[in-house]
Amino acid sequence: MTAEPERRIVTVADTAGMATAAAERLVARIGANAGRIAICLSGGSSPQQLYRLLASDAWRNRIPWDRVHWFIGDERVVPESSPLSNMGEARRLLLGQFAPASHIHGVPILASPDESAERYARELTSFYGADELNPDRPLFDLVLLGVGPDGHAASLFPGDAALDEIERWVVGVQRAPVEPLVPRVTLTLPALGSCREMLFQVAGSGKRAILTRLLDGEDLPANSARSSAGETVWLVDKAALPEDARGQ
Ligand code: 6PG
Repeated sequence: MTAEPERRIVTVADTAGMATAAAERLVARIGANAGRIAICLSGGSSPQQLYRLLASDAWRNRIPWDRVHWFIGDERVVPESSPLSNMGEARRLLLGQFAPASHIHGVPILASPDESAERYARELTSFYGADELNPDRPLFDLVLLGVGPDGHAASLFPGDAALDEIERWVVGVQRAPVEPLVPRVTLTLPALGSCREMLFQVAGSGKRAILTRLLDGEDLPANSARSSAGETVWLVDKAALPEDARGQ
């Protein structure tokens, strides 16, 4: 039996501290790889402050834009121009200003989520250069994730069959049980886990209830998402920490 990979909780004061800590980790991951770098971004509101920080004068020059490729862990099935689009938001806040267009790998919105998922999987396998993940050669240098109110991560929702997927790297999700109620496309646990570092951002008092359940070890998707090849780090701000962990 192999032991479950460890997860480390890092507490930060507030959302500004979280963005800075996440930016430092992202730049450190980039610094650790002299070749081509792959970063998988997350959606929702959690990474927005990080994206704005990375776009600032103090940070943008710390990113070798010509060596970094950007992917997304899950996408809502909406046009990229919609404010709901995860890659659309990353592009508006950060990538559109600095990343070469060919380095921004968004999920194509096709006739069905399954079709989009299949096409995105092909994009990932072609980038990786193989259609099987090799534990010694992670797909991503860094995977960013957030936690939903029901304990979902990316668009892997509690009880969904997508959680059991071990072959496919990307799947379509016809129905999302939380807002926004649009179909999704999500990377699966093996694809997300193929990274040197998985970095969650969990902030605000609105996350305290679900974080309490997750830290209690409840069987929820966010607890199943782990880097299989490296570190799993949860950045948690003071407002999101359960009562009994505050002040620690
Ligand atoms: C999405 C996400 C999702 C998100 C969490 C947290 O498309 O909705 O990728 O997994 O990270 O729901 O969302 P917030 O950051 O908005 O709280």
